[in-house]
Amino acid sequence: MLLDLLRYVATPAPAAQRRLGYLRDSIWLQSRARRCRAAWAPHLAASRAVIKEAIRTCERRETAVVLGSGLLDDVPLDELRKHFRRVVLVDAVHPLATRRAVRDCPNVELLTQDLSGAMALLTGAAPELDPRLPPVCAEGETGLVISANLLSQLPIRPVARLEGSRRPIGTWTRDDGDAFGRRIVEGHLTALAALSAKVCLLTDLDEEEADREGRVQARHDLLYGVRLAKPDRSWIWELAPFGEAARGRRLLHRVAGFWDWRA
Ligand SMILES: C[S@@+](CC[C@H](N)C(=O)[O-])C[C@H]1O[C@@H](n2cnc3c(N)ncnc32)[C@H](O)[C@@H]1O
Repeated sequence: MLLDLLRYVATPAPAAQRRLGYLRDSIWLQSRARRCRAAWAPHLAASRAVIKEAIRTCERRETAVVLGSGLLDDVPLDELRKHFRRVVLVDAVHPLATRRAVRDCPNVELLTQDLSGAMALLTGAAPELDPRLPPVCAEGETGLVISANLLSQLPIRPVARLEGSRRPIGTWTRDDGDAFGRRIVEGHLTALAALSAKVCLLTDLDEEEADREGRVQARHDLLYGVRLAKPDRSWIWELAPFGEAARGRRLLHRVAGFWDWRA
């Protein structure tokens, strides 16, 4: 708890990220990742394996971009650094651990940016959702863009904010949560689809709440009805083992990995 507080104070983050809860989420993710280290290990290894396959089969090796780089737990940074002249890590918040990890890596850059297109709308700086990728993704030298377990995260804060708001946000009202979430998910996929670089996509798709007898008590679609093609690899991520979110329930996420999403 105290460590989280220190991290909260010490982590550089723009005011909007602090105000909208992204910094809190990033610190909470770090704590959960450490607590659930053993349960998450197979998921992180599978994610890294998909990215390694994307690197291996990538022809243009000037620049690689990682969207949702976070703690870099699912990102094989050394491989990326070895194979690309420039590596750009993009996230709403770059945790202290990541900042430390790249401090002595001259070919790694950190870019702090909202990737949902919703932050400017939520802070009143823009009239509508505007999901866009940083320009580096579309540069001719960029051979690989990796969306690293980000897609299902993009709508979480914006949808919660909209559904908790008594006043409309732009043209959206609190009853539009599902449509708003869907638009954010679609926006990210549309932006990825427009790139000429190879796109490696890792995302969780849905969540099951299972009890100790293995019965599924609830199921949630994390992509708001958006369907993806058959992935190159899929696996189950035990996001919260028994005792993490609830004593008698565990949370299981189905994850899809594409080393070349548009192939
Ligand atoms: C589940 S984590 C991804 C795991 C990450 N690749 C790692 O290894 O730690 C999701 C990441 O998406 C980031 N994120 C969530 N919403 C975002 C947004 N609107 N713009 C940019 N990044 C966002 C979070 O800060 C977090 O680092």
